[in-house]
Amino acid sequence: MKKTLTRVLFSSVILISCLQLGFTNAPQGRFYMVPNQYLAMIQGRSLALAPLAVTPGFSLLRLTPEEVQSLSEEIHHRVGICGGFSDIQVQAEQRGMTLAQALEWQAHGPSIISRFEPRAPQYPNEVKRMLSGLSADRWAQTLNGIIANFEDRSAYTESGKKFSLWLGQFAQQLGAQVGRNDIQVINIPTGGGYKQDSVVIRLPGADPKEPGVLLGGHMDTFEKKPGADDDGSGTTTVLELLTATVSSGLKFKRDIYFAFYAAEERGLVGSQRVVKEFEARRITLKGVLQYDMTGFDSPRDPQELFLITDNVNPDLTRFLSVLAQKYLGITPDRIGQTSCGYACSDHASWHRAGYPAAFPFEASFNNMNRTLHTDRDVMANISVPHAMKFVALGAAFIVELGDPIGQVRPLTWN
Ligand code: BES
Ligand code: ZN
Repeated sequence: MKKTLTRVLFSSVILISCLQLGFTNAPQGRFYMVPNQYLAMIQGRSLALAPLAVTPGFSLLRLTPEEVQSLSEEIHHRVGICGGFSDIQVQAEQRGMTLAQALEWQAHGPSIISRFEPRAPQYPNEVKRMLSGLSADRWAQTLNGIIANFEDRSAYTESGKKFSLWLGQFAQQLGAQVGRNDIQVINIPTGGGYKQDSVVIRLPGADPKEPGVLLGGHMDTFEKKPGADDDGSGTTTVLELLTATVSSGLKFKRDIYFAFYAAEERGLVGSQRVVKEFEARRITLKGVLQYDMTGFDSPRDPQELFLITDNVNPDLTRFLSVLAQKYLGITPDRIGQTSCGYACSDHASWHRAGYPAAFPFEASFNNMNRTLHTDRDVMANISVPHAMKFVALGAAFIVELGDPIGQVRPLTWN
């Protein structure tokens, strides 16, 4: 009796943790996709299941709740993990696809790379090289320059459009300065009557087939200007990381992308277009980092930085915490957690599409910069040293996820 109860409890835990089931009571069951390798392990032994369609990686099956239960148990029993099978019907319904399209998307699309495999930091010498090339003065100058030249960066205005063009020119000039001609500027139209397009800068890695690494922030301001913190701070942070990465001379195995999203303030419009473009080009990413407000150092928060916990990948977020401890020397008690409670910024666009995303933030949600969206969101409220912690965290993120190639000698003081 006790054993049966344990088994029932265990099974339901498996089911809850392995599948987010949206059961209907259709007697013939719902559509699922199951990795072929796991199906092969159990086929003919305890279960006989006939796939309706087979792709190179996955099979489409129609399963009753009982079959789902047995399958989940079997995979868990034999493989020891949740087996990565999912209710494709929910996805098809949510994404407005046919089942065949959803299967194809699931087999090749980003949901199978949405996991982030926890790893330990491996490249201290290369991270230190990057950190040594960061400049707080340059960060402050860049943000001051943005505010002076593009006070209004609205997605609706000519000035907002000019800012988008300027970001592309910035990357081109940087490449010219260091003699690199492989830096790619990709403009991604926002459409919908917006004047401003998103800009993605790509630094090609040695193996472009490997999943890439992306850091981004939104380029646009809301109704009021100059948006020093929201999101001049994030835009400047991404520019500083682009500059430091290119200037470091480091080479990476993976493509590194720097994204500037248009029209975030209009409902994450630009980032959704960017994500669609990545999906269409079947570009996979190991991790996505969002920067939206990094410049306000709240006197009410004893913590040094915060990690947003909703609409993010928890493993990637934990990895950020590890990086902050190792490379910024921040103790765990000074790393806070906070949540928006809604899709508050562009990380949500990536997260919804199945890409692993993380979002380090300036303060706890309750204590964040209250001047956002007002004409008081100005430089005077910005702490450059505070913002530089987020830059440093991004530098560690790029190096540790980008997989540098070639040897770098430890930095010495003589
Ligand atoms: N930077 C803000 C929002 C924000 C607030 C991010 C707190 C992180 C923590 C962002 O630009 C914004 O205003 N977002 C909108 C939602 C968006 C979908 C239009 C918001 O929060 O209302
Ligand atoms: Zn913002």
